Amino acid sequence: METVLSGIRSTGNLHLGNYFGAVKNFVKMQHEYNCYFFIADFHSLTTHPTPENLHNNVKQVMAEYLAAGLDPEISTLYIQSDVPEIPQLYLLLNMNAYVGELERTTTFKEKIRKQPDNVNAGLLTYPVLMAADILIHNSNKVPVGKDQEQNLEMARKFARRFNTVYNVEYFNMPEPFNFGKELVKVPGLDGTGKMGKSEGNGIFLIDEPSVIRKKVMRAVTDAGPTQDNQKMEEPIKNLFSLLKLMSTPDTVEHFLNKYNNCSIRYGDLKKQLAEDIILFTTPIREKVKEISKDETYLAKAVHTGAEKARASASKTLRDVREIIGFKAF
Ligand code: TYM
Repeated sequence: METVLSGIRSTGNLHLGNYFGAVKNFVKMQHEYNCYFFIADFHSLTTHPTPENLHNNVKQVMAEYLAAGLDPEISTLYIQSDVPEIPQLYLLLNMNAYVGELERTTTFKEKIRKQPDNVNAGLLTYPVLMAADILIHNSNKVPVGKDQEQNLEMARKFARRFNTVYNVEYFNMPEPFNFGKELVKVPGLDGTGKMGKSEGNGIFLIDEPSVIRKKVMRAVTDAGPTQDNQKMEEPIKNLFSLLKLMSTPDTVEHFLNKYNNCSIRYGDLKKQLAEDIILFTTPIREKVKEISKDETYLAKAVHTGAEKARASASKTLRDVREIIGFKAF
């Protein structure tokens, strides 16, 4: 059976981008594949959380995962730092990862631009740790959003290099995966780019209705179309992309027609979009609150996950060590 893996940084709450880019696909896949889903708390250290925040963030994201429909009985749901085999594989992969190629990754270049005061080595080798996450279970499919495409390409590169250097066919080539074929990029509400934690433009699954209404009503728009069938610019295209994800096809068509004949009022579109988001997030938000209070359930899910993840990870690490040439005395 094919192995599916996906992960999420524990830096903040789940937003609609995380849900539609990764979690939704994963929830659907967990019944058909051998599935691993984890919380990347090592990765979150690149932004230096306080000890207290580190733990609370992991706990919160775990509750959100469970509320969004991941079933710890069916898939293996775990915390990255509970699996010491991952940093060991990361160390081994680092020996064949080259500084030049790591410096050229788009995400690294972006970080240098955005946070010049904190360009740490963890950021440089971020794709290697991600490759270790994926390869530790020899995964075939990785449900992610479009923003992770390049990191997946790097994971394949490191897997292929390992196979070539040691003349083996050990690692599978992990492919990014989405049920809709195309990888998804959920836009933010600020007119450009993607919805993201570091971008500060997210709608979170746990946002209260009043917060969602406020965020959506503040979304950037333009002056409105002046000609029939006018080409849409990014802020409006983004609003329609969100509407397509959140609303019924009839609603989308209704506003598209209004746009095309210049009678659209963006305020009406935003009101509808906000209500549809609220309809979708409300049951999840309520479940998050319930699960967060249930310490016993959370602890059980985490311990079961760690045990299952380590069983698979230690097998891979044993094989890799043997291939590299480590021998017991
Ligand atoms: P992170 O935490 O930024 O995002 C988690 C998942 O959500 C997806 N995503 C989006 N998809 C569509 N539109 C968006 N606006 C959007 N924003 C986020 C991401 O593609 C991702 O699938 N480095 C990863 C975490 C990670 C990982 C891994 C993922 C560590 N190791 C191994 C997969 C496999 C990250 O920071 O994702």
